[in-house]
Amino acid sequence: MKPFVPSLGCVLAVGLTLAQGFEALSIAAQNGTCCKALEVAGLAHVLYPTDEQYVNRTASYWSVSAQLTPECIVQPISTEEVSKAVKILVSHEGCKETQFAVRSGGHTTWAGSNNIDNGVTIDLGLMNTTTYDPATKVASVLPGSRWGQVYATLEPHGVTAAGGRASTVGVAGFLTGGGNSFYTAQKGFACDNVVNFELILGTGELINANATDNSDLFQALKGGSGANFGIVTRFDIQAFDAGDLWGGTVSYPKSVGQQHIEAYHAWTENVNNYQEGSSIIFWSYLPTVGDILILAAYEDTAGSVAPAGFDKFMAIPDQLSSTMRVASHKALTDELEQPAGYRQNDIRIYQKIVELHEKFVDEWKAETSDPDFITQLMFQSIATSFTEQSIAKGGNVLGLDAEPDNVVMLLYDIAVKSPELETRAREKLKASAEAMKEYAASLDGAVTWTYMNYADSFQDPLSSYGQTNVAKIRAAAAKYDPQGIFQTKAPGGFKISRVGL
Ligand SMILES: Cc1cc2nc3c(=O)[nH]c(=O)nc-3n(C[C@H](O)[C@H](O)[C@H](O)COP(=O)(O)OP(=O)(O)OC[C@H]3O[C@@H](n4cnc5c(N)ncnc54)[C@H](O)[C@@H]3O)c2cc1C
Ligand SMILES: *[C@@H]1O[C@H](CO)[C@@H](O)[C@H](O)[C@H]1NC(C)=O
Ligand SMILES: *[C@@H]1O[C@H](CO)[C@@H](O)[C@H](O)[C@H]1NC(C)=O
Ligand SMILES: *[C@@H]1O[C@H](CO)[C@@H](O)[C@H](O)[C@H]1NC(C)=O
Ligand SMILES: *[C@@H]1O[C@H](CO)[C@@H](O)[C@H](O)[C@H]1NC(C)=O
Repeated sequence: MKPFVPSLGCVLAVGLTLAQGFEALSIAAQNGTCCKALEVAGLAHVLYPTDEQYVNRTASYWSVSAQLTPECIVQPISTEEVSKAVKILVSHEGCKETQFAVRSGGHTTWAGSNNIDNGVTIDLGLMNTTTYDPATKVASVLPGSRWGQVYATLEPHGVTAAGGRASTVGVAGFLTGGGNSFYTAQKGFACDNVVNFELILGTGELINANATDNSDLFQALKGGSGANFGIVTRFDIQAFDAGDLWGGTVSYPKSVGQQHIEAYHAWTENVNNYQEGSSIIFWSYLPTVGDILILAAYEDTAGSVAPAGFDKFMAIPDQLSSTMRVASHKALTDELEQPAGYRQNDIRIYQKIVELHEKFVDEWKAETSDPDFITQLMFQSIATSFTEQSIAKGGNVLGLDAEPDNVVMLLYDIAVKSPELETRAREKLKASAEAMKEYAASLDGAVTWTYMNYADSFQDPLSSYGQTNVAKIRAAAAKYDPQGIFQTKAPGGFKISRVGL
């Protein structure tokens, strides 16, 4: 029993309008010689702020905080076009002062990771197909796909892939950041199931990274973020046989919190013995209810209904709603549109965290005039078996092999309605998470690991992966991007050059 650390705290603003700033930007766009150069080179999909499709693509970012206003959005339709766009951005005279961003699903919640103000955003949304080879069971997935599309293509073949637990999540950020799925205990992280990455480097050159070719880059891409090396244009993923799962979500009043804490504590102790199971629980303040509810997502990937591993959860009374059923991987991910992350396994630490979250909600309600906000306080077990699977498949750079125990990851976030509230909420949430961390540390239950795919902009997940992994990522970045294009000219995401370790 030990580790836990608020590995997370992200704040997002929801429901802002996009109207402001359009006029000024359309002026800049007319002058945008870099955007013009992309058009002249034959890239057909260069979108300006006045284009309806630009507005639609901007609105398709999951978090309003990430909906910035680039001078133009370029949508390549092929690997060749990605290469062409990179070459122009890096070497064209008119692009000298222009920075760029890379966007796939667009699910990162904070501003500046997958989008950019004034620069150019390379949006891979038109590269979204999945093809499947039954002979090798390899699925070739283009970076702009969302997991729901991938599952829909694979399911008629009786197979699936380790991927997002919400079907709208993008493939590229997910896979290069690790990827926690319903199958992690059996298959390792989603990135461990990639057999080949095709990518375009900062020179515009195409390379493949796999176990035999460019294997240093292959490993660094498994958790080190694509944002440090190039633009991934295809993921070849090992699929596996899968039937229906048993799963769904159940909601409860906060009064059964203690039973949930005990059930999750026991779950985490047992998780290596029950690898078909997956369970996420979270406390969430919902404006529609005006109170904190407990939400649980239970899954048995073998399709067994309410197997013994879930006994403690099934015994919890007062279910307010339940969607538990036997259904396909895709159907279950269509329902789960929420994020998650954090860790530990001492009952007192869970209790304190739940208490501090409730305090946060009460204070936020009292201090702000806007009751329209959502919080999530989500617990996920990260078992040592996950890492065993990762190592068996060649290893990644997440650094979880340094954790000798099962740990629990916490995702703690709030969604608010305006940039002013976002700024205030971030500070307050940080302080609340700090208090959680301090309490855990006081019981020797703090772990420093921070998961990139759930980290907020002020956090430093790469450092938390440890010296050895930082060195691997740094070496691969220096070797495959010697000009540092993806460190400076494309400034978004978690950069290895900003890591002090
Ligand atoms: C509703 C929801 C559910 C989620 N569920 C899960 C879950 O079950 N498990 C989990 O582990 N995580 C989950 N996440 C977190 C998710 O993994 C990350 O948000 C991830 O970054 C999403 O990938 P994306 O393609 O949408 O990323 P984007 O936001 O588009 O990009 C993320 C980063 O990767 C870079 N990038 C994007 N595309 C490429 C590319 N082709 N080549 C190189 N770099 C690129 C971007 O520049 C950016 O820095 C969830 C998030 C949300 C909002
Ligand atoms: C547009 O470009 C011209 C000449 O290159 C420059 O003088 C002018 O300031 C630019 N205008 C804007 C709005 O950027
Ligand atoms: C933009 O989105 C709207 C609403 O979904 C849709 O009706 C319209 O066709 C879209 N426009 C383009 C250019 O795709
Ligand atoms: C997938 O890409 C095609 C064009 O390549 C585009 O028309 C379609 O809208 C995209 N689908 C999604 C869900 O984004
Ligand atoms: C590895 O990359 C090389 C090209 O560098 C390619 O020929 C080979 O097919 C790739 N292997 C896999 C498993 O994709």
